Amino acid sequence: MSTDSHAADMLLAACAAKTRHAHRRMAYARLNADLTIQQVSANFAAMAPAAPQPQADVLHQPLSDVLWEFVGADEALHDVWARRAPFFRLEHVNREQRDGSLHYLTFSVYRLEPDSGLDGLLLLVEDDTDYGRLHHQLVQDRNELRLVQGQLAAANKELTRIDRMKSLFLSMAAHDLRTPLSAIQGYAEMLLLGIAEPGSPKAFQYLDIIQQQSARLNQLIDDIVDLDLIEQGKLTLNLTPCDINPLLQEASSAYKFQLERRSITVHYNLAPEPITIWGDAEKMLRVFYNLVGNAVKYMASQGQITLRSQQQDGQAIIEVEDTGPGMTAEQLDNLFILYYRSEDVAKSPVKGSGLGLFIVKTMVEAHQGQVQVTSQPGQGSKFTLRLPLHQSDSGEILLQ
Ligand SMILES: Nc1ncnc2c1ncn2[C@@H]1O[C@H](COP(=O)(O)OP(=O)(O)O)[C@@H](O)[C@H]1O
Ligand SMILES: [Mg+2]
Repeated sequence: MSTDSHAADMLLAACAAKTRHAHRRMAYARLNADLTIQQVSANFAAMAPAAPQPQADVLHQPLSDVLWEFVGADEALHDVWARRAPFFRLEHVNREQRDGSLHYLTFSVYRLEPDSGLDGLLLLVEDDTDYGRLHHQLVQDRNELRLVQGQLAAANKELTRIDRMKSLFLSMAAHDLRTPLSAIQGYAEMLLLGIAEPGSPKAFQYLDIIQQQSARLNQLIDDIVDLDLIEQGKLTLNLTPCDINPLLQEASSAYKFQLERRSITVHYNLAPEPITIWGDAEKMLRVFYNLVGNAVKYMASQGQITLRSQQQDGQAIIEVEDTGPGMTAEQLDNLFILYYRSEDVAKSPVKGSGLGLFIVKTMVEAHQGQVQVTSQPGQGSKFTLRLPLHQSDSGEILLQ
């Protein structure tokens, strides 16, 4: 290096230091009015790895050939040259270094002061990596925060909805509990007063109503208790090997009087062998009460209910099919949502709480099973449950 150029380097370094009191790693270069590079600091190539040229070749090259970030910046740089702009800056430009690491650089271009003894533009390259990474992290954190905020808002909205539904449910439940209770009370009183002769068809009809209404009360209370357990996360299963077939029979026989009165026939298409799952018999019975109860409840008279059970590929497959009104695609989408009752059903005299299917799904899933529904308006509905069959320790399916 000649003494002259060494002096110029020293001078440029002094200018750079004076221009920016930066403590960061810094490299610099001097540009001519035609935006070619005239002079660079020794660390220039290391800090701002340039286009393919080795460092020596950087000299006398147009800046935008060496640093692609300056492509299209000529006009802005001419403005700095003509002192129409105080500086030109590209901040936090990320660049891959030769070792593959990502660095953030800030490029600033100033017009050299006339009193500096040097003419031209001063290009400063500052290593912003700490700041850049922080900035990058901040942007990432802010995006995550926005996402979480969005999720929180959605969760809040859902909570408000559930809260409103719960209040609605409570007022409905109070009404629903009172209605069967007053029917029971009224018909029991009539029997006590001898309005219907004991053993007469009328007396039988009154007793039938009392029985039905008590069953409804029971069902509602059971559903409310289950819901409370589910909501508190306290649903516990009393697991034993349990055969599905007798449970299906028991569930349907609970509706014996209603089935007879409304000329609904139940067909049993049950596997001849026990269909044994590792389950809570009482909870599964409640699942079947709900499914058969819906089939009975939503069906006009003169329908058919088919109960099927079979085992296939290590699974118990249980179907509850009815020839009832069926459901629309929209109803099917919402079916298992807590408190959901379809609009037309809610307006109809058929009473309900919208708890049943939510409980069914929760119970079945707690047994590692799944519920599926197929239905079309006017074509009946079919609920299919799949539950893992009980297996012995040796992995064999127990048939008992
Ligand atoms: N077998 C069925 N046939 C037609 N609609 C049904 C049937 N089962 C359930 N539904 C519809 O799904 C809704 C939710 O059922 P469920 O959770 O048991 O509540 P609920 O019976 O108390 O209304 C019902 O209100 C009804 O609209
Ligand atoms: Mg129901």
